[in-house]
Amino acid sequence: MKKTIILILGLVLIGFASCEYKFIEPDKGEPVDPEVPISFSEQIEPIWSTQNCTACHDGNPFSLLPGEAYQSLTTRSLINLESPEDSEILTKPEGGHGDGYVSNQSELIKVWIEQGAKDN
Ligand code: HEC
Repeated sequence: MKKTIILILGLVLIGFASCEYKFIEPDKGEPVDPEVPISFSEQIEPIWSTQNCTACHDGNPFSLLPGEAYQSLTTRSLINLESPEDSEILTKPEGGHGDGYVSNQSELIKVWIEQGAKDN
């Protein structure tokens, strides 16, 4: 009887051990250092062309094209300086709109907003 209980306990333990789950981390790309100033024109603006957002957002109702995107972001209030991660320019694509963001793109945009969303 004792042997049976030990055997069962052993099997349960082996069962748990083999159930170890390996989480597959999404590729977040290069980490973003919040201390390093982010350039809007060099690092942020190109994202919307890369992600094909500009296929639709080329003017009507708003443009995310280089040279035009900043004005759209401000006039349509797509940036939330009080709560950067709630900015619509982040939440809309994260909700499955368009091709969304990949790698560290949303992190870059978030940190850029945290740094004051400058047109630099
Ligand atoms: C196939 C066309 C298409 C693509 C691609 C697309 N969008 Fe849009 N987007 C729209 C349309 C149409 C609306 C307005 C209706 C709505 O809100 O869904 C919109 C709305 C938005 C809004 C809401 C803001 C507002 O003032 O209406 C944001 C922010 C936005 N898009 C960002 C993006 C970003 C960033 C990308 C790329 C990752 C992207 N979109 C890709 C068509 C597109």
